[in-house]
Amino acid sequence: MAIDIREGCFHLSTQNTSYIIGIYEGFLFHHYYGKKLIEPNLKSFKHRYQECYGHYMKTELRELSFESDSLEYPNYGRTDFKHPAIHMVGKEGHSIIDLTYREHKVMAGKYELVDLPHAYAEDGDDVESLIITLVDDTGSIEVDLFYGIYTDYDVITRATAIRNTSEGLVRVESAQSMSIQMPTSNYDLLSLCGAWARERHVYRQNLHKGSQCIESLRGASSHQFNPFMALVRPETTENLGEAYGFSLVYSGNFIGRVQVDQHDTSRITMGINPFEFCWHLQKDEVFYTPECVMTYVDKGLSGMSHNYHRFYRERLCRGTYRDKVRPIIYNNWEVTFFDFDHDQLIGLAKEAKACGMELFVLDDGWFGHRNNAAQSLGDWWVNKEKLPYGLKGLGEEINKMGLKFGLWLEPEMISPVSHLYNEKPEWCISVPRYVSSLGREQLVLDYSNPEVIDYIITIMTEILGSAPIDYVKWDMNRYITDAGSFYLEKERQKELFHRYILGLYKVLEILVARFPHILFESCAGGGGRFDPGMLYYMPQTWTSDNTDAIERIKIQYGTSLVYPPRTMGAHVSPVPNHHVNRSYSLRDREHVAMMGNFGYELNLMELTGDEKTELKEHIEKYKCHRQLLFNGDYYRLISPFENRIAAWMFVDENKEKALLFIFTLHAVNNTLPQYLHLKGLDSYSLYEADGEIYSGSQLMNSGLQVKFPKKDGGSRLVIIEKSR
Ligand code: GLA
Repeated sequence: MAIDIREGCFHLSTQNTSYIIGIYEGFLFHHYYGKKLIEPNLKSFKHRYQECYGHYMKTELRELSFESDSLEYPNYGRTDFKHPAIHMVGKEGHSIIDLTYREHKVMAGKYELVDLPHAYAEDGDDVESLIITLVDDTGSIEVDLFYGIYTDYDVITRATAIRNTSEGLVRVESAQSMSIQMPTSNYDLLSLCGAWARERHVYRQNLHKGSQCIESLRGASSHQFNPFMALVRPETTENLGEAYGFSLVYSGNFIGRVQVDQHDTSRITMGINPFEFCWHLQKDEVFYTPECVMTYVDKGLSGMSHNYHRFYRERLCRGTYRDKVRPIIYNNWEVTFFDFDHDQLIGLAKEAKACGMELFVLDDGWFGHRNNAAQSLGDWWVNKEKLPYGLKGLGEEINKMGLKFGLWLEPEMISPVSHLYNEKPEWCISVPRYVSSLGREQLVLDYSNPEVIDYIITIMTEILGSAPIDYVKWDMNRYITDAGSFYLEKERQKELFHRYILGLYKVLEILVARFPHILFESCAGGGGRFDPGMLYYMPQTWTSDNTDAIERIKIQYGTSLVYPPRTMGAHVSPVPNHHVNRSYSLRDREHVAMMGNFGYELNLMELTGDEKTELKEHIEKYKCHRQLLFNGDYYRLISPFENRIAAWMFVDENKEKALLFIFTLHAVNNTLPQYLHLKGLDSYSLYEADGEIYSGSQLMNSGLQVKFPKKDGGSRLVIIEKSR
C-alpha cells in the first residue's frame, strides 16, 4: 500500500522512499522526505518551534508557528517570512490566507491534470494518487494538493489546483507546484546551467543562508537554466550518497528556489516563475500548476539519473516512437543552410541512402522567400523556385529511394518581413508604442490568442497532410521580449507567458494526435527548451546547435543527469566545426553522436571515396548496436567537467553486452593507462573485452585497464560481451 493514513498523518511510500505530512491544529505540515521508513511512529514528528523567539499563531499554542516548521503548501504573512508556495490577493486587497485541511481522497492510478503535460500510469502499474483539499476559512479559495505515487519507479509527482470559491475575483500571484522542507541545509545544490551552444553544464554549490534559485524569465525553459535541480549531500558522488531530484514538467518561465533560514532549515519550491505572472480567477474557476517529478535515492547521481531515465522513457514520453528505435537522420542544414534546390537535395538524399541513412530532413529555407533568417516565417507556402515539384514531389522522390522524408518548421514565429505580418501585425507579441525588440530578426506569435492557435493548427495540418512527411523538427529560435498581447485584456497581460505555453501545448496535443505516424523532434535554437514538458509531446529534442565533438561530450553528459539518451538528437557535422573551428576525425565525431538519436549533417558530395567507405561501415556498425544504445541503461564513468578525459557506457537489459565509450578532451603526455570501473554488469558472468576474459565483478571493482587516445578529441569504442 503506497498511502498509509493514521494518527493525523499521511505516509506515502514507494519501494525505497517515504514522504510524510501531518495535520496539526488543522494545518498541514511537511515532516519528512527521504529513505523509506519502516513502520514509522507518526506521532513523533513534534513541532520544534516552541523553544524559539519569534511569531506564533496562538498564545496557548506557541509551537503553532510556520517560521521553521514548514507548512506543506506555505503561504506568506501568517508567521512565515519566506517566499511562499502560494501568494494571492482576494477582493479585500490583502494576501493573507489560512489554508487548513478539509478532506482527502485516495484513488488508484494517476490524478488528472487539465491542459498540461504530465506523467501517466498504465494498466497494471502500482500507482496511487492522494488529493488533499485545503481551504481558507473565510471561504475565498480551495487548494487541492495532488500526489502521484509511483511505487516501482521511486517517483512522487506533485501538482496543485487552486479554486476560487468566493464571489469576487482572486488574483493568484504565485502558485508553486510543490514545496518541501528539509530540517538541515547540509546539501549542495546541483543544477544544469549554460548558454546557447553550451547547454546543461553541471554546476554544484553548497547551500548558503538565504535564497538561491534557478529560473527562466525568457518565455521558454531556456538554454541558461534547465527546469531541474537536485539537492545532494556534500559527500554524494556519482555512485554513492543521497540525492533528491526535482524536475518540472513545464516549458516556460519557471523557478526552482531553495531558502535556507535562520535555523538552517531549507525550503525547496518549484513551479511557474511568479515574476511577470498574475492569474485572474473568477468565481469557481480553477488554476492548475504544472507537475513536478521528485525522486530520492541513496545511490548517488547515477541512481537519480536512472530513476528519471526509466520514468521519462516509460511514463512521460508517448506515441508511436516511444519504444521504437529512431531512424538515422540526414539533415541538410549545416551543408546547404538556406541555399538549395530540388536537384541538390535529391543528390544529397541519394548519397545518404547509399551510405545507409534512413530519413532525409529538409531544414529551414523551403518556404516563402526564406533565403536568409530575416524573412518569411509565417508564410508557410512552398518556394517553387527552390522546389518546383513541391514538398509532395520532393517527399515522394525521396520515399522512392527508400528514405523517409522529414521537414523543419518554426510555427511559433513570424518575420516582420512576411505576408502574415503585413496582414496580422496584432498577432505578434508586442506592446503598443514600443518598437519590438528582435531575436534572429524575428518576432513571436501570440499563442495566448485562440485565433492564432486555430490558424496555426489549420496551416500545420495542411502542410503535414500535403506530403509524405514522417518527421518534423519543431523549432523555436528566440525568447519572448516585449511581453504584451493585443488579445488579452489590460488586467490579464501578466497571464501572457503562461497562456502562451498553454496555447503551445494545445497546438502540440492536437497535431501529435492528428499525425501519430510522425516522429516529432523539438528544438529551440538547439537545446533552449529541452524539458519534460516538450518530451510529453515530442519524444526527442535537438540537444544543442553546437555539434563540436568535445563540446557535445559535456552537453550530452550534463543532459543525461535527467534526460535519457534516447531523447537527445546528436549528429555528425562538418569540420572544422563552425562554432569553434576545431576538427576531429569522422570516427571520433561518430562516437560522440552515437549516444543519442544518431544522424549526419555532412556534405556527402564532398567526401572522399575512403571517407564514404568509412561512413558506410560505421553506419552498419551503428545499426548492430542501436537496439542496445536505445534500450540499454546508460552509465556515466568519468565526468568531462572534472577531468581532461571522459567515459560512459551502455549495458543491455540482460547484461549480455555493453558498449564503453572513452574520450580524450585534452591530451597530455606521460600518463598511465586508467583502470575504468565499469557498471551495470553481472558480477558472476564472464565477459570478453579487448581480447581478454574478465568476470563482471573484476570489471566493475578492479576495473578494465584502458589507454585513452593521445589526441585531443580522440575516442574509442570498446565492445564488452558475455563470453560463451
Ligand atoms: C536553429 C536550429 C538549427 C537549424 C536552424 C534553421 O538554429 O537549432 O538546427 O534548424 O535553426 O534556421
